[in-house]
Amino acid sequence: FGHGALAGLRVVVSAGPTYEDIDPVRFIGNRSSGRMGFAVAAAAAQAGASVSLVAGPVSLATPAGVARRIDVRSAAQMQVAVREACQAADIYIGASAVGDYRPANVSALKLKKSAGAPLSLQLEENPDILAGLAAQSGHPFLVGFAAETHDVASYARGKLRSKGLDMIAANQVGDGLGFEVAENALTLYWADGELALPRATKDELARQLIAQVAERYRAARG
Ligand code: C5P
Repeated sequence: FGHGALAGLRVVVSAGPTYEDIDPVRFIGNRSSGRMGFAVAAAAAQAGASVSLVAGPVSLATPAGVARRIDVRSAAQMQVAVREACQAADIYIGASAVGDYRPANVSALKLKKSAGAPLSLQLEENPDILAGLAAQSGHPFLVGFAAETHDVASYARGKLRSKGLDMIAANQVGDGLGFEVAENALTLYWADGELALPRATKDELARQLIAQVAERYRAARG
């Protein structure tokens, strides 16, 4: 543990996409680069926290000062790793882009084309990692992300309530912001307040987010 706004606190951060296998060579993924989540993990470590980083499939180096990194692939694996890490955590920041669905059956053999016939994939819903944690007693302070293309504020406030979160960081994706780009802009929402963090690098936004998380955590949990 170092000095700073999160000194003495244990923080779990999840980052990156999830990949849901279809067969041995194909998967369903998404365009999350993991950069926002890795920047958040770095900022939390800089703020003095002991940080566990649960990373989906990304090609990013572990930030300096991060105590532990657990690499996972699927949403189910991410949930197991996050739950385990959250058994002894004060704050969980879910910055990962968890796939909403996975193939109901993973084929052991490579799927083959069948002469012009359409192919259907049956998908089943993945568990919601944040909402699952919120339902457990003694859970850490929970921070979620919401990437939206429209109606950002109302979707973000809806997710804050429905998932039982303490804070949510919402961003508008598209227009050179969001996924696969270096810059972003966030608006933070909590039960009785909000704060806009204007367009900046993901590293700078992560530092500002961590400062607010520290403040809200102290207000909520002393
Ligand atoms: O995908 P969605 O907009 O619902 O994501 C909002 C928040 O919920 C994010 O912080 C994301 O990491 C989290 N989430 C989760 N488990 C899921 C889907 C999303 O923890 N299965």
